[in-house]
Amino acid sequence: MEGSGRVDLSDIVWEDVPKHRLTPEALRTVKYFHQTESFTFYYLKGLMETRAAQQEPEFAPFLCAWAYEEEFHGRAFLKFMEAYGESVRDDYRGLAFSGRTIGERIDEAGQTALSMVFPDVWPATHMVWGAIQELTTYHAYRQLMDRTGHPVLKVICERIMKQELKHFAFYYQQARKRFADSKLAQKIARGALTLAWTPVGDGMSSKDDVSHSLSFLFDGHDGDGIKKIEQRIQTLPGMEWFDLFSRYVEKNGIGKAPAAWLDHPGECAAPAAE
Ligand SMILES: [Fe+2]
Ligand SMILES: [Fe+2]
Repeated sequence: MEGSGRVDLSDIVWEDVPKHRLTPEALRTVKYFHQTESFTFYYLKGLMETRAAQQEPEFAPFLCAWAYEEEFHGRAFLKFMEAYGESVRDDYRGLAFSGRTIGERIDEAGQTALSMVFPDVWPATHMVWGAIQELTTYHAYRQLMDRTGHPVLKVICERIMKQELKHFAFYYQQARKRFADSKLAQKIARGALTLAWTPVGDGMSSKDDVSHSLSFLFDGHDGDGIKKIEQRIQTLPGMEWFDLFSRYVEKNGIGKAPAAWLDHPGECAAPAAE
């Protein structure tokens, strides 16, 4: 809690944003993460309903700080897009929420049911789930800055990444502790992840947008970024099997991003005005 706070962008020169060109594919990826970050709010409900949130002293404070920080990640990308010349509708959050997929709605209902049936071990599933998604955003923003070469986006990503790493550390440690204490927690997490896990942002954005981002950032199954994420998660007790991310990109035929997507020639005229 002492170290939490909104990502500091007070020194960003927003006027510089449109001076550096982004490919349409890069911009689409920024949009995807604006959406994804902005949806954190909706995930709070599921976490609040767990027994851990009600009983564990460090859990509720973490959720407060986490949701606050994620909101400002979303705002950072929003501000970036607006500075670039993109217009974003005010009601983007509500629109996406009402348009969320059937799968997402089933997930919500299923989670409520499972949290009632397994109140003691269900939080471990939330924790490992959170660890995977946070680690994905951390790697995603590293790739986003490397693949765009946009100097302002780089600073924003670097600062957000520090917070994503903190979030990951919390979820990871929580998952480790819970899995170490309970084989049942490991089993239930395995079942739930296998049944319902999809990459961060899926369910709130279209499948095409998910695939696009995973190709743009990680080259899907042709790159090694997704494997790196899996390898870290595999270090958790009982998670040695975790390969769902690789399976997802294989199953959906998500591969290498075309070279043109990653073109970043640097300074040029403001794109939005063209
Ligand atoms: Fe975030
Ligand atoms: Fe995060």
